Amino acid sequence: MKALVLAAGSGTRLRPVTHTGAKQLVPVANKPVLFYALEAIAQAGITEVALVVGPSSDDIKDAVGDGSAFGIDVTYICQDVPLGLAHAVLISQDFLGGDDFLMYLGDNFVGGGIAGFAEEFRRTRPGAQILLTPVPDATAFGVAELDGDGRVVCLEEKPAVPRSNLAVMGVYLFSAQIHEAIREIKPSARGELEITHALQWLIEEGREVRSCLHSGYWRDTGNVSDMLEVNRHVLDAATGEIAGEVDAESRLTGAVLIAPGARVVRSDIEGPAVIGPGTVVTGSRIGPHTSIAADCEITDSRIDGSIVLQGSTVRGVPAVTASLIGRHTTVTSAPAGDTAHRLVLGDHTRVTLAR
Ligand code: TTP
Repeated sequence: MKALVLAAGSGTRLRPVTHTGAKQLVPVANKPVLFYALEAIAQAGITEVALVVGPSSDDIKDAVGDGSAFGIDVTYICQDVPLGLAHAVLISQDFLGGDDFLMYLGDNFVGGGIAGFAEEFRRTRPGAQILLTPVPDATAFGVAELDGDGRVVCLEEKPAVPRSNLAVMGVYLFSAQIHEAIREIKPSARGELEITHALQWLIEEGREVRSCLHSGYWRDTGNVSDMLEVNRHVLDAATGEIAGEVDAESRLTGAVLIAPGARVVRSDIEGPAVIGPGTVVTGSRIGPHTSIAADCEITDSRIDGSIVLQGSTVRGVPAVTASLIGRHTTVTSAPAGDTAHRLVLGDHTRVTLAR
């Protein structure tokens, strides 16, 4: 079995971070979301992996390389324009050949991995197998209706009145039958070749599309609030370790990870939290549920429930919450007596100022 990991896409919901980097590389507890997917694939015993990437994907290639760090062998396939999940399969046919394959959306986070799901497919060998999870409100998801045996009888994309509470997750297993289906479908109203349409085609042709229920944690990190929620979830399971320097005037509580080369001076760090290598935290309160990446400077500030990417500075800001701060970004307080905000914001940036 091979694996196809989808890491192209536009990432419009995570702008401006995605103007300059892939969303799949946004770190969750200081490790890119994509790495959790590659680790899960390796753990499922799959070593032949293709990463579908966009045309400006040097950052992904630099981060993942040949995959040997994960125990897998990675090939790159360029999708010039993100024309849909089924289009990504279409352009990957040379790599896939006639083999069974796992398709994993590179921005999805699946707690507990996918080894059992792949094992079930190897055992039952249906035409396709999808991973489903119950959600409180299914109207924002692809939704599956099942028969009593776990076979999928109908799939609907973002239905106004869902037929079940079972959302389609971003992990699929396919036999070579999927290629036949993709050749038959037409682009949707939004101009994409939809994988749900290909699956629906298989169902209508009487092919076997099975399902597996995932009862563990799952999030698609496509927007800021879900990214922060995954960060919170991963940090909740983290254990603390102090490899950097912490001075006698600082106080650490809960699971706090201070990377080698990080320095904490006159600060309170409330875990779970991670402070990346080379970062200096001075006179600040950090956490809980906060990840500060490498080479940041946090001075006289308070940050909780947030992710700060590499090389950023937060200075003199008394309350930052639920924020995603991109790389090499500076957030500071205005000079004393100044009551107006001074902003230099990238395209498609969102700022919420406290009054
Ligand atoms: P989406 O989150 O559905 O799409 P997107 O990345 O374009 O983001 P947005 O909706 O915010 O604009 O994509 C799910 C995953 O699949 C993600 O890892 C990107 C990847 N993908 C491709 O590789 N090729 C594609 O054609 C599409 C649509 C997505």
